[in-house]
Amino acid sequence: MKNKNLISITDFSKEEQLHVLDVAEDFEKNPHQRILADKVVATLFFEPSTRTRLSFESAANQLGARIIGFSDASNSSTAKGESLKDTILMVSNYADLIVMRHPKEGSSRYASEVASVPVINAGDGANQHPTQCLLDLYSIRKTQGRLDNLNIAFVGDLKYGRTVHSLTQALCNFNCTFHLVSPVELKLPSYVKQTIKDRKLEYHQYTELADVIPFADIIYMTRVQRERFADLMEYEKVKNAYILNKAMLQGCKDTMKILHPLPRVNEIATDVDDTPYAYYFQQAKNGVFVRQALMALILGAKQ
Ligand code: CP
Repeated sequence: MKNKNLISITDFSKEEQLHVLDVAEDFEKNPHQRILADKVVATLFFEPSTRTRLSFESAANQLGARIIGFSDASNSSTAKGESLKDTILMVSNYADLIVMRHPKEGSSRYASEVASVPVINAGDGANQHPTQCLLDLYSIRKTQGRLDNLNIAFVGDLKYGRTVHSLTQALCNFNCTFHLVSPVELKLPSYVKQTIKDRKLEYHQYTELADVIPFADIIYMTRVQRERFADLMEYEKVKNAYILNKAMLQGCKDTMKILHPLPRVNEIATDVDDTPYAYYFQQAKNGVFVRQALMALILGAKQ
């Protein structure tokens, strides 16, 4: 995996994805390894983030790497009109690896084509969020003991939800059944459904969250993302479509876990947080180990 870009989760084979999870397991047991002490990692965030940026930076720090970058493009020369191409060419001179989040779909792929160092996509618009996908796979495997033959319920904004797009594509390698709960306006895009069809797997579409609770192994909640709507009236119509609370969980499987890429707004009531089903905060913590593994593999410090 040395020097590979990670732009879409499909850039990594099933075997490579599983290898990242195995290396991440080692980092969970032994997180402080200064194996990137001679490396510089640039985190370029053109869109807000808490978990992705800080977990990358925490991971890099624990591996001894130095961090440069920005968390707000208005503090960079982008604000003066510098192009993305020129920014990436410059940062390639200063860092061994670029981690980039950008609101435009395809921007990370473009960055990887002009950069002279590897690029990791930390989310490009409504397209892909492959590192979130890997930490989601890690969390599912850790809580369920496997990735195969699970009933996965995705709930909320399946249209613009880049984490759902990446995770659906990855779980198609594992014979999962997909239960897609969304308002009609926010259904999973056809190109992602096509991936499921191509693998001859099953998907079912619902508008009621209660329909999937009794049999789901994983309920993957998502936020309806205000920032993705061109028409805010459309957002207002669907923003409260699904609110999962503790009472609704009666009758779910004992082993069921609730995941959420976070941040949440109101789609998971806080009374769920103390139930044994809530796993979203541990899920975010797993992001540090997975990102340690990714950086170590891409920068050649692990094989
Ligand atoms: N899951 C995720 O991408 O969270 P942030 O937007 O806070 O990085």
